[in-house]
Amino acid sequence: MVANYIVDELPRIIENGTKKAESIKNRHLNMPMREREIIQPMGLNGDKISIGERINRFYNADNLVTIENLLHEGYRGRIDLIYIDPPFLTKTSYKGRSKVRYKDTERVVEYFAYDDRWEDGLIDYLKMLYTRLYLMRELLSDKGSIYVHLDYRTVHYVKILMDQIFGRDNFLNEIIWSYKSGGASRRYFSRKHDNILLYSKTKNYIFNPQKEKSYNRDFKPYRFKGVEEYKDEFGWYTLVNARDVWPIDMVGRTSKERVDYDTQKPEKLLERIILSSSNEDSIVADFFAGSGTTGIVAEKLNRRWIMADKGALSKVTTIKRLVENKSLPFSIMSYKEESDKAGRLSIDNVEKVVDNKGQEGLRIELGDYHLNINNIDIRGKSRNTIEKIGKNDSLALIDFIGIDANYDGGIPIIGWQDYRRANKIVIDSQINIFNKGLKGNNIYIKYIDIFGQENGTILHI
Ligand SMILES: C[S@@+](CC[C@H](N)C(=O)[O-])C[C@H]1O[C@@H](n2cnc3c(N)ncnc32)[C@H](O)[C@@H]1O
Repeated sequence: MVANYIVDELPRIIENGTKKAESIKNRHLNMPMREREIIQPMGLNGDKISIGERINRFYNADNLVTIENLLHEGYRGRIDLIYIDPPFLTKTSYKGRSKVRYKDTERVVEYFAYDDRWEDGLIDYLKMLYTRLYLMRELLSDKGSIYVHLDYRTVHYVKILMDQIFGRDNFLNEIIWSYKSGGASRRYFSRKHDNILLYSKTKNYIFNPQKEKSYNRDFKPYRFKGVEEYKDEFGWYTLVNARDVWPIDMVGRTSKERVDYDTQKPEKLLERIILSSSNEDSIVADFFAGSGTTGIVAEKLNRRWIMADKGALSKVTTIKRLVENKSLPFSIMSYKEESDKAGRLSIDNVEKVVDNKGQEGLRIELGDYHLNINNIDIRGKSRNTIEKIGKNDSLALIDFIGIDANYDGGIPIIGWQDYRRANKIVIDSQINIFNKGLKGNNIYIKYIDIFGQENGTILHI
């Protein structure tokens, strides 16, 4: 019954989705986005790139609006690789977790990251994806390819949509990412893999074969002529071109990579994808960025990147990861005006100071953070904890703070940052900035709380 219904719906999804995508492609830009700020991570290794040349951008918005903006900004046909990891139709609401200081202890609070619940189930889900996939194809270069990361719930239906948009001839692989962690079932085989569909745009696509180990049987070298053999603790092996089954560990509880964003993908997985299907200086895009794994790995591999995610938690998680990684300067793009619902940070004092070497600097004393908890999707115990912290120790709720110490009234260039991390769960209330020559009298302070709510203040000295 249900299967028939979906089969009946597919032609409609394709026809209406194509019409919608074509009208978006051809209309005047509906919701223009703005560059809100440029983040220039501290400790960045030299001036590898001037701010004017940078491409790397995080769009904090729905990806349909993002893609429309990119088409208008001249990105049509310029992106070599798109990786997407959309929601999987799990009927779940996903969370992020933060350790926050509570009196002299630490508490873990959980709060909303993103929803994967769909009113009309699979049909709604496929409608959402079809229009976006159709428009992503426009952004791909002629050498480009796209990886669509799914699982058993939707892959067979999305394959049909992809065949329609990209052509069956351009279907290159269904990659099986196999892993071990997670639960097990007594009623069916344990589900321990995801499916990644790989399509190219044309036949002239970038593909750099990656090598993997292939172990010889019987722990002996084969000694084939001209074939190099190696040995490790598991036996003798040769290096062969990688297969389409990829055993890669998930980001587990104890993993160093872990940023406590549900559904975070391992860097190793992205590394293989980016190395295989892009070159240095290629633009790599991810329109369901989550914790920002694609941008982090693209950056490490000298690619340029564009990411989008509509979630507030995704934005703050990604910014912190990029700053920690000392990434090249990147822009935050959005169309929303600052919300008056966001929390407010009071500043107790700002002054110019001189250190013992005679260097001029700035000293800023932070006051309290005033948060309206009713604006946040947080329940139960975590809510009580946050209310108490808000009254007694409110700075513990600030996740990221960034400063443009020479603010010129234009787009802030955030060249100083502090943020909560595993070994420092509260930012300092006194900020000293000595490493930038101070030219003017205006300072811009941007702050984001642990829920991803952001705000900014201009100070005059
Ligand atoms: C499965 S997660 C991605 C995880 C990511 N690969 C990582 O390594 O962290 C899916 C993400 O898509 C975002 N998302 C869902 N629908 C979206 C939309 N229409 N526009 C932008 N982002 C969306 C969610 O906020 C969520 O962060």
